[in-house]
Amino acid sequence: MTPPFSEYMEWAKTRSAARFNLASSGVVAFPLAELGARIEDLEICGPSTYGYAPLQERLARKAGVDPDRVVHATGTSMANLLVLAAAAEPGDVVLIEEPTYSLLVDAARWLRLDVRRFPRRAEEGFRLDPREVERALTPGTRLVVLTNLHNPSSAFVPPEDLRAVGEAARSVDARVLVDEVYLEALAVRGRPSGSAAHLGPEFVVTSSLTKAYGLSGLRCGWAVADPDLASRMWRLDDLFGVIPAHPAERLSVVALDHLDRVAGRARRILETNTDGVNAFLAARPDLACAPVDGGMIAFPRLLRGDVDALCRRLREGHETTVVPGRFFGAPGHFRLALGCAPETLEGGLARLATALDEMRSAASGTSAPATDA
Ligand SMILES: Cc1ncc(COP(=O)(O)O)c(C=O)c1O
Repeated sequence: MTPPFSEYMEWAKTRSAARFNLASSGVVAFPLAELGARIEDLEICGPSTYGYAPLQERLARKAGVDPDRVVHATGTSMANLLVLAAAAEPGDVVLIEEPTYSLLVDAARWLRLDVRRFPRRAEEGFRLDPREVERALTPGTRLVVLTNLHNPSSAFVPPEDLRAVGEAARSVDARVLVDEVYLEALAVRGRPSGSAAHLGPEFVVTSSLTKAYGLSGLRCGWAVADPDLASRMWRLDDLFGVIPAHPAERLSVVALDHLDRVAGRARRILETNTDGVNAFLAARPDLACAPVDGGMIAFPRLLRGDVDALCRRLREGHETTVVPGRFFGAPGHFRLALGCAPETLEGGLARLATALDEMRSAASGTSAPATDA
């Protein structure tokens, strides 16, 4: 039986740190000093029961829905767990995309859900094909789970494909959970993001301020669901989160009131780094990867050689980390993140180039060209 914990999260917490960390997927931390929070904005204890009203109101406004559809949670992670627990019961089928963010699968298994998968194919740029969902749906399916933008590839799922998935799910009385934590990367770039929250009552979306805004320490996540499911989630949260840390709720209110400024900084970082990553990918004949367009992670395929060996070489010899694709169910790939400081990305990509060259030389029995990384 699968152990009830996440191999990936343990790796992320203990082995992803490095001088050139291209593994951590969030935008580099937004400094508290620049948020404009005053001591009067904070308090230690407050009226947080089933949501702190000022935060509920701001999250609802951000999502463009009524507050009774919003469940504030400790990060997208807790929001996902609450949705899985509220929308399905032990033994119910959940249909989860593959590859995906492994915690979705681990949490569903821990809840004793019957996890089945539908493919998002590398050769199709990991696009979501609604026909694959239709093929895999069964009458016992209660939930379809996907990420948009896709983690790990950043592939965008357009609203027409989401609608097709929603229709198919509705036909068997299932819901669709769309984890939109990376869709926020489009929002910070001022691009219309098309949240599934507006596509129909069968959709439940989750997201947070953690990734695209550099605010991960606030753990400000949420789910948007129909009001009945939202109240089930609140009641389940009595078992999981119970009461959130009130200072974090207060700071989240301040952050949401200044989100344009926070997003502006994230946009500048992501735009600079997107140019850098795309130039790098275009110059590497040993990698296959679509150019990044609006996302904050890329998922290149290593055309020759072993990804785990590359990751080890990077970490042990070049002070650089990327995420091995095996954690997503795609062992021939690795994940690169674009949210770090531009100089970190530049240094990390230079070292990645060196490590790739070394591997190619080792495979062909010649010595690597002397590059300074
Ligand atoms: C798809 C996806 N959902 C959720 C999370 C966790 O987000 P949070 O930090 O908001 O809990 C991650 C983190 O990498 C993720 O990739």
